Amino acid sequence: MPKRKIEFSYARREIFSKGAFLTTGALLGVGISRMMGAAEPPKIPTRQSIETISQSDLGKIEGAIQEMMDRSQKNAKDPRGWLANAEPHRTFCALAGVGPSQIHGCYWFLPWHRAYIAITERKIREIAKDPSLALPYWNWSVNRRIPNRFSRKQSALSKAVRFTPNRDLRNSEIDLLIDDPVLSQLGVAALNARKFVATAQKEDFDLAMELRQSFGGVARPNKFDKYGGSRFELTPHGPVHVYVGGENPTTGEPGDMSDFATAGRDPIFFAHHGNLDRLWEKWRSMGKNKATEPNDDLFLKNKFVFPWLDGSSVEVLVSETMDTKTLGYQYDTLDVLGAAVKPMATNPEAATTVLPPILNAPLTIPATPESAEKRRYILIIDGLQFPARNLSAGVYVSLRGKLNSGARILVGSISVVRSGQNYVFPSTVQIFDVTEAIAALGRAEIEVIVVPNAIGGEKRLPYQSIPYKSARISVQ
Ligand code: C2O
Repeated sequence: MPKRKIEFSYARREIFSKGAFLTTGALLGVGISRMMGAAEPPKIPTRQSIETISQSDLGKIEGAIQEMMDRSQKNAKDPRGWLANAEPHRTFCALAGVGPSQIHGCYWFLPWHRAYIAITERKIREIAKDPSLALPYWNWSVNRRIPNRFSRKQSALSKAVRFTPNRDLRNSEIDLLIDDPVLSQLGVAALNARKFVATAQKEDFDLAMELRQSFGGVARPNKFDKYGGSRFELTPHGPVHVYVGGENPTTGEPGDMSDFATAGRDPIFFAHHGNLDRLWEKWRSMGKNKATEPNDDLFLKNKFVFPWLDGSSVEVLVSETMDTKTLGYQYDTLDVLGAAVKPMATNPEAATTVLPPILNAPLTIPATPESAEKRRYILIIDGLQFPARNLSAGVYVSLRGKLNSGARILVGSISVVRSGQNYVFPSTVQIFDVTEAIAALGRAEIEVIVVPNAIGGEKRLPYQSIPYKSARISVQ
């Protein structure tokens, strides 16, 4: 089947053409104006939280997904099926850093997933014959468990392989740095990034420094042939995948979400990424952030290709992903922490089972001149060798020898997500801003502790210590 261009122009209003959109007629612009009352005010479908979407809309979405699942059951290759819809995620996301089509670990991450959700949403609209439908998102900053609506037995939304641990998502998994006065207000600390693109650097250390301030990741291709996911892609993106999918406690096998090769099969994938996508909108709405997004042709004219229901392919230009309304949706709210909901109190983890640390190193705080108040203390862990298995771990700073006192301060996290036969490694260099933590602890003997979050598989095979070369604090 030939490739074709999906018509996204909002002016064409094809999203209101009652199931006719994306048919050849709609692509040729036939019939749309006749189907639309000229004076009808445009209504852009609104993505809502899974907690608030109406039961009737949710029922239609469940029905459409169930229909797609049934088709795949009969014929795994059916292009109208749910498995066919999940395939692009294996093709473009489970390559673990090889090949030019990998869209993880670089600045294609956000626009590609945005396009993927939008295409899936359009398939669902078409199958449900309701062009006003919009997929729900899961705001895990507020609801720290898999929402009930994703786990009701009869619902298509629950039909996935999950070994989710029986516990709330921890602050380390959703990047809520509760002890930092500025970052805790943001909810997701990665929202503090000040630019979209990280410039590629030859040395891993320099790249890590660049990525620390980047929301979108490193540009690809780049002259050093480096990959580098933004802080946002690493956390909360990675740990929420690992949490939902978990690992089979007996076999260690991952669930759908904890392997990028299968993640697109779990309907909650689209609610997780919907929330990430919503947070991208949040980030863009703050200060000058949006102005830092690339506007060159290399970025904007890149095309992503997805399979359509009739077996043909549709193309989405990156430029078409730069405004959600062009893609045919908007969000009900960009609120992160929820109006009525306070972030959980400090250290909810202190009360639950804590796994032994996989890295624990003493730190020396460099002396700084009295006048150097504005300086930042940066923790650098270098030469890390991550395990070839799923991992989601909190990185804490505490007073030396106070490992289990609960007085540790979360400064970030690291995660590894399975990607087919490979594992997506974060860089061998990890960088964390520990300025606030040092201020809170006082200038004393401190240490860094990396503690894994339980996901089930460690019951069979406990996590081993992570080898590393050095852990030090630098003053910037
Ligand atoms: Cu392409 Cu959350 O993964």
